[in-house]
Amino acid sequence: MRTIEWDDDRDCIAMVDQTKLPSEYTTYHAETIDQLIESIRRLRVRGAPALGAAGAFGVALATRRNEAATFETYVDAVAADADAVASARPTAVNLSREVGTVLDELRACSSISEARARTLAAAKDIADADVERNRRLGAHGATLLDDGARVMTHCNAGALATVDWGTALGVVYSAQEDGKTVSVIANETRPLNQGSRITTVELQERSVDVTLIPDNASGLCMQEGMVDALVVGADRIVLDGGEQFGDQGVVFNKIGTYKQAVLATRHDVPVVVAAPHSTVDTERSADEVEIEQRDPDELREIYGTQNAPPETDVYNPAFDPTPMELVDYLVTETGVYEPPLDRAAFESAADRAAV
Ligand code: MRU
Repeated sequence: MRTIEWDDDRDCIAMVDQTKLPSEYTTYHAETIDQLIESIRRLRVRGAPALGAAGAFGVALATRRNEAATFETYVDAVAADADAVASARPTAVNLSREVGTVLDELRACSSISEARARTLAAAKDIADADVERNRRLGAHGATLLDDGARVMTHCNAGALATVDWGTALGVVYSAQEDGKTVSVIANETRPLNQGSRITTVELQERSVDVTLIPDNASGLCMQEGMVDALVVGADRIVLDGGEQFGDQGVVFNKIGTYKQAVLATRHDVPVVVAAPHSTVDTERSADEVEIEQRDPDELREIYGTQNAPPETDVYNPAFDPTPMELVDYLVTETGVYEPPLDRAAFESAADRAAV
């Protein structure tokens, strides 16, 4: 199945439950808005494009779970649910963006039955478009990888972070489809271990040779010449760096990406960011992007076992900003860009992609 989709028989959202990986590959059904929000917060569904689809399907779900005396109050109730879904996690722009897209569809309707039909159709289109976009992105990105390339990746920006195919790992799959042999070094990605729990699983499923390393070994791997490219995804890309980063864009991605990019630059390893235009936020500067802070217990405990005294102060940001000066290639569904970006050209490519 896809990472997330609509279950027509049960009239609800079905998703791969990523909290159960790697031991179980099971499906979770979100039948209510509360269950969807909990699923997003707990990372049953995760990764920017998959969160976009979750938001889109969330609005469709809300149209089914609400009743009201008038269409106006119905729209208000659905919009309140939609807002709650959109703010379940703050950093990936795709979540709030796709909630907004489907809400616009709702606002163009004049009856509950029309709203239910049109929002679901719009959400399904968003999910389909994600897969198609990732395919195009992957094909562009694959041109950067030679036969035999050894890629390091951080977190999981694969099929399970999107509706299907993936962004960073989509580049690897497309290169493989082109007949190239590509191997991957997967950073474990503490503290939630998306690298070890998720990236390894999907790479092995697709017969890609993968080696898992603890995050702290990435510098050594680069020193030893084991890495030809660092390929990562993004949760939000801004073109305006704000006070801290100035004119250059910034890539927000899983905590530790910045460190990997600094190391890669130090070792002349090209830094490749693979993300669709839907992850680019042209409205905000880096100063306005909220970096999600996660539960301290994710560090104080490891899988239910105490890892630090229970009252230990913790700083647990989920994402970090990597300035575009450290990015060698930005790959989207419209092509490969070499920063510094020509903002006008990049935005007009995004406009064309949106048509
Ligand atoms: O906290 P997560 O697991 O949702 O973080 C995911 C990432 O950081 C991914 O690299 C990013 O969303 C890109 S997904 C194609």
